[in-house]
Amino acid sequence: MTSNLEQRDDQPRPDRLVVLGTGGTIAGRAAQRGDHVGYRAGEVAVADLLAGIPVPAGWCVQAEQLAQIDSKDIGPELWRLLLARVRDLLDRPEVGGLVITHGTDTLEETAYLLQRVLAPAKPVVLTCAMRPATALVPDGPQNLADALVVAAEPGARGVVALCAGRIHSGLALRKVHHYRLDAFDSGDAGPLGLVEQGACTLFQPWPVADEADRRLRRVWLDRLLGPQPWPRVECLFSHGGADGWLVRALLAQDAAQGRERADRLQGLVVAGTGNGTLHADLLAALREAQAAGLRVWRTTRCASGRVLLTGSSSDSIPAVALPPAQARLALLLDLLMA
Ligand code: SIN
Repeated sequence: MTSNLEQRDDQPRPDRLVVLGTGGTIAGRAAQRGDHVGYRAGEVAVADLLAGIPVPAGWCVQAEQLAQIDSKDIGPELWRLLLARVRDLLDRPEVGGLVITHGTDTLEETAYLLQRVLAPAKPVVLTCAMRPATALVPDGPQNLADALVVAAEPGARGVVALCAGRIHSGLALRKVHHYRLDAFDSGDAGPLGLVEQGACTLFQPWPVADEADRRLRRVWLDRLLGPQPWPRVECLFSHGGADGWLVRALLAQDAAQGRERADRLQGLVVAGTGNGTLHADLLAALREAQAAGLRVWRTTRCASGRVLLTGSSSDSIPAVALPPAQARLALLLDLLMA
């Protein structure tokens, strides 16, 4: 059977791009035009953001306000809504691609989740801004225009992000700056491509679905959209003086509330130092967490790079080659299959 996320040859050529608004700085409003930090995110309607933005030739654009939040506050509620709406829209033959306006703060999480779970055969382009819509020189309008170019690009597919003219894979991007307009990078992988003067240049292939994961994706989607709470996975850091107190406090609290709860703690992601190494005292507490039945993964707190196995004592905690916030979602997906 053909998945509703795949393009089929027998269908009419799509001519519609849908822009889903979720809030963020791109929809932010400040009291003063020169204020780039003291604003409220998620205030301007997505239909208003689109006013005056060029529509790629041969396409029409439809706006839909899915949410209006500061993305630091995102969670399963909006992620569920996004997963279901993106799936349903991509299923329509007239829809050729989606743009999602999103806050920068958790964009890497939403992009990662959408690509892992939906792995769409049509483009889903997340875009954002670092300056509010009311700024003297906002960056949102150009990002939105460029995102539409990517969504309309022949052959484009998968979940990507567009910021400051660069196209990032939804699986590789990370917010690396709190203020600069070019706030994202794709680490050692580098960006997928660029949008310049309304034209796409690609350096790497679009993200593709891993066919082996097709059954997995179907199960993930059913479970994520189902009534059960998502598996609880918490994140912590290894740092000077990390003596495991936090881990033991979590274990004690969770045990006191009863391990039969659907929202019991099931996983921990620890961002280690350098090559994912862990303070010896923290490592001892994490082993206690493993013994109590928790899944524990480690990554690095470094801004780039991947953890390499070294044969050290930390290797008893499985390493994952993802930034901490994405590693948390990866563990959550893994736990859904447990
Ligand atoms: C947010 O993530 O919603 C606020 C910050 C931003 O979009 O840059």
